[in-house]
Amino acid sequence: MRSTTVDASLLEACLTAAIAAPSIFNTQPWRFRLAPETVTLQVLAAPERGLRHMDPTGRALHLSVGASVFNLRVSVAHFGWHAVTRLLPSPDDPELLATVRLTGPASRPATGRRGDLYEAIGRRHSSRFPFSGRPLPPQLCAELTEAAHTEGALLTFPAVAETDRLLRVTAEAEHRNRTDHDRAAESRRWIHRDPDALTDVGLPQTALGPQDAHERLPMRDFTAQRHTERLTARPFETKPVIALLTTEHDRRADWLRAGQALQHLLLVATVHGVRTSLLHQPMEWPDLRRSLSSTPGLMGHPQMLIRLGYGPDGPATPRRVAPLDTGPTGLRGD
Ligand SMILES: Cc1cc2nc3c(=O)[nH]c(=O)nc-3n(C[C@H](O)[C@H](O)[C@H](O)COP(=O)(O)O)c2cc1C
Repeated sequence: MRSTTVDASLLEACLTAAIAAPSIFNTQPWRFRLAPETVTLQVLAAPERGLRHMDPTGRALHLSVGASVFNLRVSVAHFGWHAVTRLLPSPDDPELLATVRLTGPASRPATGRRGDLYEAIGRRHSSRFPFSGRPLPPQLCAELTEAAHTEGALLTFPAVAETDRLLRVTAEAEHRNRTDHDRAAESRRWIHRDPDALTDVGLPQTALGPQDAHERLPMRDFTAQRHTERLTARPFETKPVIALLTTEHDRRADWLRAGQALQHLLLVATVHGVRTSLLHQPMEWPDLRRSLSSTPGLMGHPQMLIRLGYGPDGPATPRRVAPLDTGPTGLRGD
């Protein structure tokens, strides 16, 4: 039988990758625990960093944690280990969202697609700046669709008229977010006021892009200004590439799958030099979210709108160090 002793530095590298995942408002709503006897990394929700007004059901929290689980899987494979991932493994422990059990060293180093995505984890950042308007090659769209499919989700690239409709629904959601007192206040709480603040959650000012001067792309105004004319505006791409991520069902496990699918396709995009940003606003209003799924011929529950294109890289946002809870027995670093 092969040994399943894992080097502590490997676990540390895997955790660094896990926390590089995108999360709603950079809340980083995850915690990690190690069960040393089974070499299992447990991924738990951190509900204290949930968004009470914008995400009352915790759907976006699950998406964020799902993205983190995908990074864990990629890094474990990158370091040459086999792992078995289970979602919601314990009905008695609703905060335990996933386990990643390292089952033994792989006989060959990871050469598959998932292992190859490791280097992209640290390079991927949300880019909320105007893109060039250069279209994505159809082959890449197929690869992104395949990435989502591998994780149990569906990715569609709507045609121009449908893209316009999705963006109009997003604009309505953005308008509501700005004018809803509780949501606007919640949004502002996650923005760093002081540019030099050493805050390790939330968004620094440098990560916030301008608004679209054409008023076509409803980029999220994290500062939730009522008077949008006061915000900086620049012309964005006139033919935005928007993809819609959906899942067949809409349970907690589907949200976690959607998060893994999201991160899988974002990393594939990064490998190909494609920048991304997310338009989640319509998912935060049940009626608007429902109206997205009325897309002709589209099945499933909308989970995310993704904007893709060629343009400036987004700046890195801070991360809090997520200490690994090793339980009473601890971990031997051998
Ligand atoms: C569920 C979810 C919803 C998000 N919604 C938005 C959004 O509406 N607008 C946006 O610009 N970014 C959105 N983001 C991106 C986060 O703001 C971003 O991941 C976080 O600030 C960390 O920055 P990074 O992606 O550059 O690492 C979302 C991310 C997740 C996982």
